[in-house]
Amino acid sequence: MGVDGGAVHGQGTAHADASPSLDALLEALPVACAAFDCETGRLVAGNRRYHDQFGPVPGHVSRDRLMRELHPGSTGDTPGRRDVRLPHSGRWYSLHWGRVEDTGQALDLLSAVDISERIEVLDSHKSRQEKLLFTSRLMSVGEMAATLAHELNQPLAAIVNYLNGSLRLVGQAGGPVQVERALQAARTQAEHASAVIARVREFVRAREPRRSAHRLAGIADTVLELLRLEAERQELCIELRLPEDLPDVYADRVMVEQVLLNLVKNAIEAMRETPPGERALRVDGRVNLDGDVEVRVVDRGSGLSQAEQDQLFSPFFTTKADGLGIGLAICRSIIEYHEGRMFFEPSPEGGSVFGFTLPVAEGRT
Ligand SMILES: Nc1ncnc2c1ncn2[C@@H]1O[C@H](COP(=O)(O)OP(=O)(O)O)[C@@H](O)[C@H]1O
Ligand SMILES: [Mg+2]
Repeated sequence: MGVDGGAVHGQGTAHADASPSLDALLEALPVACAAFDCETGRLVAGNRRYHDQFGPVPGHVSRDRLMRELHPGSTGDTPGRRDVRLPHSGRWYSLHWGRVEDTGQALDLLSAVDISERIEVLDSHKSRQEKLLFTSRLMSVGEMAATLAHELNQPLAAIVNYLNGSLRLVGQAGGPVQVERALQAARTQAEHASAVIARVREFVRAREPRRSAHRLAGIADTVLELLRLEAERQELCIELRLPEDLPDVYADRVMVEQVLLNLVKNAIEAMRETPPGERALRVDGRVNLDGDVEVRVVDRGSGLSQAEQDQLFSPFFTTKADGLGIGLAICRSIIEYHEGRMFFEPSPEGGSVFGFTLPVAEGRT
């Protein structure tokens, strides 16, 4: 037999009569192997590995059908080397086709090396690379935030100044009262934006929350005030259920405002498709079994599939056309900086519950 590159040194004819059979040769090979008649394309011989691994492939006894299965889109000739994945087993093979002359009969010889493990290693390497890329993207988000904060600081300060001036003028002129209210609302928003930006800058620099004792009710009031317009637009009434005797939390006020704002915003956005009569949003507060303050934002939105739940807090996960997907990731890191815990659970009333815990201030200040 004169297999490509396999001609043994010296006179190849010496052992012609003692040549092992094709079957025996294929059987001795450590990979799946099959020989097809060149003319008819029919399977002439295949080792046990071939039958085990390629038996379930439709047409594994015919070269041409096998070609169509394994190399869809290829025309006629055997394509040399090619990596394929067998659908029935999910395993990857590196295929090699070669032509063999055996005492007048021409054969197309297929050998298939299982390369699944190599592919897995490559894949896991790739996903590690992707994770690294994520982290570096998150870091550049931090840098971007710092740049933006720097750029926005000046104009925001100017806006607050103009609003203060206008408020003074309206005050001196004695109204109209609607304009005065609108100016005050605008100033609240602008001041909040400034506070957020100041905290972002500080946070990016120091990466540490500045904590003291705060009433949760005060934090929630600020957030609801900021979202009032958005809630009205959606004909939505936000119910605040915080017990009078809820202990103060030990937290960075602006950062926790940011968390609650994100959660309530998400809840509002989740109810875009809910009929107006069924929309309801509640913010609950209580002391949990560990003695921490627990806040829960409960909506009647669409809820979340299992696949969505698994990815919720990953950076850049979003199902919204206009979403950034960093809201929840930021919430979670803020809460973890506060030694608290962020959680999600499906709401028994339909919709979702997003919550977090914060340590109580007593004994820490
Ligand atoms: N209350 C909620 N109800 C249903 N899905 C939600 C809710 N909050 C968040 N999600 C899902 O989590 C995703 C990520 O949220 P987030 O990190 O805030 O990013 P974004 O709001 O920019 O999409 C959302 O796109 C949405 O699919
Ligand atoms: Mg969001």
